[in-house]
Amino acid sequence: MIDVLIVGGGGAGLRAAIAVAETDPSLTVAVVSKVYPMRSHTVSAEGGAAGVIGDGDTLDEHCYDTISGGDWLCDQDAVEAFVAEAPRELIQLEHWGCPWSRENDGRVAVRPFGGMKRERTWYAADKTGFHLLHTLFQTTLKYRDVVRYDEWYVTKLLVDDGRVHGVVAVELKSGRVETIQARTVILATGGCGRVFPFTTNAAIKTGDGMALAYRAGAPLKDMEFVQYHPTGLPFTGILITEAARAEGGWLINKDGYRYLQDYDLGKPTPKPRLRSMELGPRDRLSQAFVHEQRQGRTVDTPYGAVVYLDLRHLGEAKIDARIPFVRELCRSYQNLDPATDLIPVRPVVHYMMGGVHTDLDGATPVAGLYAAGETACVSINGANRLGSNSLPEILVFGRRAGMAAAEFARSHRQSAPPAVQAQGEDERRRLERARERNPRGERVADLREAMQHTLEGAAGIYRTESALAAAVDTLADLRERAQDARVEDPSGTFNTELINLQELHTMLDVAQTIVACALNRRESRGAHQRSDFEARDDTAYLAHSLVHRAPDGTPSVGLLPVTITRWPPGERVYGRD
Ligand code: FUM
Repeated sequence: MIDVLIVGGGGAGLRAAIAVAETDPSLTVAVVSKVYPMRSHTVSAEGGAAGVIGDGDTLDEHCYDTISGGDWLCDQDAVEAFVAEAPRELIQLEHWGCPWSRENDGRVAVRPFGGMKRERTWYAADKTGFHLLHTLFQTTLKYRDVVRYDEWYVTKLLVDDGRVHGVVAVELKSGRVETIQARTVILATGGCGRVFPFTTNAAIKTGDGMALAYRAGAPLKDMEFVQYHPTGLPFTGILITEAARAEGGWLINKDGYRYLQDYDLGKPTPKPRLRSMELGPRDRLSQAFVHEQRQGRTVDTPYGAVVYLDLRHLGEAKIDARIPFVRELCRSYQNLDPATDLIPVRPVVHYMMGGVHTDLDGATPVAGLYAAGETACVSINGANRLGSNSLPEILVFGRRAGMAAAEFARSHRQSAPPAVQAQGEDERRRLERARERNPRGERVADLREAMQHTLEGAAGIYRTESALAAAVDTLADLRERAQDARVEDPSGTFNTELINLQELHTMLDVAQTIVACALNRRESRGAHQRSDFEARDDTAYLAHSLVHRAPDGTPSVGLLPVTITRWPPGERVYGRD
């Protein structure tokens, strides 16, 4: 019996594993990951990690930026804990070997980031996630008790009488199905950007942890809040980091005009101004793009409308020193050089503010079940996450979840009831049946594409009642059709068809919750913009959406009050001092 079983080998999962190992070396820890941990999506984070470092900055200011950026939907007790612990985590990473970029005098360098009033984003050039994940991974190697199940896919949580007892997982290379009993489980599988057609998210980000929790009886929270990052490369969706704008990049429309000055985000200034223009929050910048498009001021390309990111005035030396990866990506994937050419960009699905409902220690309402990172909703991001808050979030709440799970495992030593083994056997038989050939069904890829376009059409940057209501029906229909999807590969060895089918079921579950929550919230707040309810409505909706899975499998949405500690709801003001 494993004491703490972690699903997901990215930043949150690895940070949790280290926390368990450090809390009590006698506890057994396992990390089950569908990819080798260094291929987890954390590796592709670019711009940096926010944490107050001094120089006049204060914890309260970081709190305020986060809360106003989140349009007052953040739980303020969670934000206060997060902001207080983030700097400690970033220093801890330094001690474990993370190569933070430095000022000439040796101090850790920080850069501005969107929606932040101060320069507080630590970075390692523009490969911060790569270095952070490396640091965590190499640190886990110190602990022999961290057992790894690399390239295993979890299909089910074993739950009996409101308590988790482990998982069922498939080994991808052999197809072997195993019941892994555990005293506690931490879900850290990242987000679910792949439910949309155009995303910065790796193909692995299919909402697995969210769906596992939801099916096991834990509610999801704030699923309607989907973040579009303003600058993705057309076609691939590859992220061009916000750091490019932090270093002084401009967004211009087809007339070469810095259009953000028309959207209540301030006016152009000789030097980039914090919380202004290109350093405004992501929701506002993505919404401004849609308005430019409607006015015919974007550029049409075979891969959709774009505006341009202009870095030419930064010069080659600065681009190479501060954002070398941007240059590398533009050369490799867009065949252009940002030192001399404009970069075509458009908003792209990047991050889920919502996720598994947890408390400040990552605990879900299912005993022994925890979640951390993008999989979870604590919630510190409210209706719109600020860039560079997610890397410290995986550290702070990965650690907290690890410590809390360790404590639970220590105090709950009884063995699992027999019903758990029977559940595991049922799941093994279900997976065997799922591999039986069914050459007449619809292709998984076609069903997935239909789901993605339904989401983009109904739950994109702007939403309406009628489009969302139609999407409810389309997704229900797709769910039915997915039950009978085509299966042609009966083998056990790297059966990607089988896994893609499981991921499709997962994504459909999550997609239904996004649409249901968006339909239920009849106001506009942060990343959730209803064209038919344009104002924020604090009387009715200063509350989280909480969605449970009803017995018939459909989402059932309720509301949960937001925790306000010291910052009463106010106006979100950018571009002014
Ligand atoms: O633009 C970026 O580098 C993204 C950062 C983030 O999402 O936190």
